[in-house]
Amino acid sequence: MNKLSVFSLLCVMSVSCTAQDIVLPTPNKTGGKPLMEAINDRRTTREFSDKDLDEQTLSDLLWAAYGFNREEMRTAPSANNKQEFTIYAVTKSGVYAYDAAANTLIQKVKGDFRAKTGGQDFVAVAPLNLVYVADLTKGGAPASDVGFISQNVYLYCASADLGTVVRGWFDKAEVKEALQLSETEEPVLTQTVGYKK
Ligand SMILES: Cc1cc2nc3c(=O)[nH]c(=O)nc-3n(C[C@H](O)[C@H](O)[C@H](O)COP(=O)(O)O)c2cc1C
Repeated sequence: MNKLSVFSLLCVMSVSCTAQDIVLPTPNKTGGKPLMEAINDRRTTREFSDKDLDEQTLSDLLWAAYGFNREEMRTAPSANNKQEFTIYAVTKSGVYAYDAAANTLIQKVKGDFRAKTGGQDFVAVAPLNLVYVADLTKGGAPASDVGFISQNVYLYCASADLGTVVRGWFDKAEVKEALQLSETEEPVLTQTVGYKK
């Protein structure tokens, strides 16, 4: 059965999905560079090609960032295990929330809002901008917890030969509007990912 058929079947079975949601392929949890090589290659990139990331890469990247690697536990630690973050993926086609349990990108807004996620030119060119959004009602320690997620992305990118830059330079109000966030949802940090130019 191809991917589209599986997706249609899930929708017919009333699993929560719409035509715009993206059911990601199962993340590949093996392979990549050995850890010490990935650490050695970790660095910031600010020049990106506009080539899209395929769904397998998106799945692997998001799982590495903040997926579940044990029962209800994540690849990134959080203070008191509050797991207060949701990763938003902003692409050419829309704004999506990463649902790690369903391994699905839930479309929140349709359209290209990449340029709204930061003040640097490359944000509108790179295929993916991640926005790390904390649910302020959950507690935790967002300012420090976000660093672990971001570093997971840095290491995945080093391992997969992708470019990335974590970014504090963005307009919070503009991001909140573009992502249609509520009062209690706070964009803490952003991170651009794509192929290096
Ligand atoms: C919290 C934080 C915010 C950052 N914000 C930006 C940013 O807005 N734009 C940018 O180009 N780089 C940003 N960076 C990337 C740093 O400039 C970069 O990590 C630093 O120059 C060291 O380079 P390296 O990552 O290659 O080791 C940020 C890094 C951190 C940790």
